[in-house]
Amino acid sequence: MIKVGIIGCGTIGRELAYACRKRFSEEMTLEGIADSDIHRAKKLQKDLKPKVKIFPADELIQRCDLVIEAASKHAAYELAKKTLSQGKDVMIMSVGGILGKEKEIFKLAKTHRCCLYFPSGGIVGIDGLKAAGMGKIHRVTLTTRKPPQGFEDAPYVVKHNINLKNLKQEKLLFEGNATEAVRGFPKNINVSATLSLAGIGAKKTRVRIIATPHMLVNVHEVYVIGDFGSFYTRSENFPSEQNPRTSRLAILSAVATLERILKNVKIGT
Ligand SMILES: NC(=O)c1ccc[n+]([C@@H]2O[C@H](COP(=O)([O-])OP(=O)(O)OC[C@H]3O[C@@H](n4cnc5c(N)ncnc54)[C@H](O)[C@@H]3O)[C@@H](O)[C@H]2O)c1
Repeated sequence: MIKVGIIGCGTIGRELAYACRKRFSEEMTLEGIADSDIHRAKKLQKDLKPKVKIFPADELIQRCDLVIEAASKHAAYELAKKTLSQGKDVMIMSVGGILGKEKEIFKLAKTHRCCLYFPSGGIVGIDGLKAAGMGKIHRVTLTTRKPPQGFEDAPYVVKHNINLKNLKQEKLLFEGNATEAVRGFPKNINVSATLSLAGIGAKKTRVRIIATPHMLVNVHEVYVIGDFGSFYTRSENFPSEQNPRTSRLAILSAVATLERILKNVKIGT
C-alpha cells in the first residue's frame, strides 16, 4: 500500500482524497491531509468517512510515500524540496512554483532516487510535445481563454490597472513568455509551466492570455512546430464548480496521474 498525503484541501485536494479512498483504495491509503487554513482541512475531514487525520505539512511528509501538493504556487517549491530530500515521491499541481528552480528540484529527485509528477492539467498535447522533444522543437505557443472573473485579482491585471468589468468582447490581456505569464497570473496559468517543462523551457514558450466574456468554458490551444512537423490541440474545459479557475480536466488529469503511478501498463508517451 502506498501511503499518500495531500497538502491543500481545496478543489483538487478534495477530489484526490476521494480518489484515494474509493478508486485506488486497494493500492493506496490516505495517511493524512494538511492545509494552511485549518477550517478547510476540518471540512474535508468531516466529509470523509472514515475520518482522515490532519497533520502539519512537515509531519505529513515524514509519514508518507507519496505527497500531493495541491496548495499554491508559493508552497510548491518548499514542499517539493522537503519531500524529495526525504526520498519520497511528490506530485505537484502548482507547477508555476517550480519554474526557474526545476534544475535543482530535478537533481534532488535524481539524487534521492524518487519521482516527481506533473499532471498535464487542462491542456492536451503533452504526449506529442515530449515525443517532439526527442528531435528538435522550433516553437511552442499556448493561447488560453477564460472568463474575466478568474483574472480579476491576477498581479498583472492589478499592476496594469486592467478593467475587466462589463467586457463586451474578448480582450487580449497578456502576450509574452511562460516565465512572465506565471509571474503575472500565478493562479491561472500552471499549464504554461507544465508545457515549458515538457518542451523547450519557460523563456522560449510563448503564451497569450485572453479574457472572454459570455463564455462558460476555459479554452487552451497548444501549437507546436518542430522537425517532426506540427500539431495543434484545443481543449474546451468546464470549470470546476468550487473554483472556476480550475478546469474539471485538470482534476481528472491528476487522478489519471495517480492511476499511471499504479499501473504496470503505461500507455502514451
Ligand atoms: N497543474 C494544473 O494544471 C493546475 C490546474 C488547476 C489548478 N492548479 C493549481 O493547483 C493548486 C490547487 O488548486 P485548487 O483549485 O485546488 O485551489 P483551491 O484554492 O481550491 O485550494 C487550495 C487549498 O490549498 C490551501 N493552501 C494554500 N496555501 C497553502 C500552503 N502553503 N500550505 C497548505 N495549504 C495551503 C488553501 O487553504 C486551500 O484549501 C493551485 O495552486 C492551482 O493554481 C494547477
